[in-house]
Amino acid sequence: MKKQPPLIIGNWKMNPRDSKSAVSLVKELGTLQKKQNHATVVIAPPIIYLAEVSKLAKKYNLSLAVQNIHKSLLGAFTGEHSLPMVLEYGVKYVILGHSERRASGESDADITGKIEATLKAKCQPIVCIGEKERDGQGNFFLLIEEQIKNIFTNIPKARFKDIILAYEPIWAIGTGATATVEDVVEMQIFIQKTIAKYFGRASVAPVRIIYGGSVKPDNAKELFESKVIDGFLVGGASLNAGDFNSIINATK
Ligand code: PGA
Repeated sequence: MKKQPPLIIGNWKMNPRDSKSAVSLVKELGTLQKKQNHATVVIAPPIIYLAEVSKLAKKYNLSLAVQNIHKSLLGAFTGEHSLPMVLEYGVKYVILGHSERRASGESDADITGKIEATLKAKCQPIVCIGEKERDGQGNFFLLIEEQIKNIFTNIPKARFKDIILAYEPIWAIGTGATATVEDVVEMQIFIQKTIAKYFGRASVAPVRIIYGGSVKPDNAKELFESKVIDGFLVGGASLNAGDFNSIINATK
């Protein structure tokens, strides 16, 4: 299977404070990134900024993601957005199962429905998995195994290549604590073993695995040089164009 370019996603979460700041952030990043073509750079702004941001994204060769989606195409779902609504703005990726959403009640079953809808719309789901904490006995591996099993069970194997798994240990999100390279390597091997166990060896290679959790300019290079990850999901540091640019450049 041909090696794909690194995938670096900036999850803006509920930031920045207004559309003017969102536009400035894209322009700043776009200008810094103008000459790079080694990576696929994706930004996930709040949906309310999509119309403005999408005009610039094209110009700067940035791809777009949303941070969540509803699985239905249309209907009485107050406060929700559908895939056709965001496809209009060129969205190609959907972040699903982020721990901040799981924490407010999103279940594996909800996430599975959204993955299926995303694939049907020819978008790529970026599915977050990760443990809240690590216990000395290694029980957290069981939770990761369960999450992986639930994600892939209803997905046709031919579509595994469209799934991006983001390993994000919850204890490392927004805390400044990053998993060590050893933690990431160990988990990446475990994820691949789990996919092989339930879905066969041939299913391992097509699934891209990225890392998220306090990725910063000063740890990105070391993490990426572990050679086991295909990119990063970046929260806080993606709100600073200079920092995000450094992280992208660390994957050269
Ligand atoms: P962080 O967030 O980079 O601020 O830790 C990562 C994420 O939540 O995806």
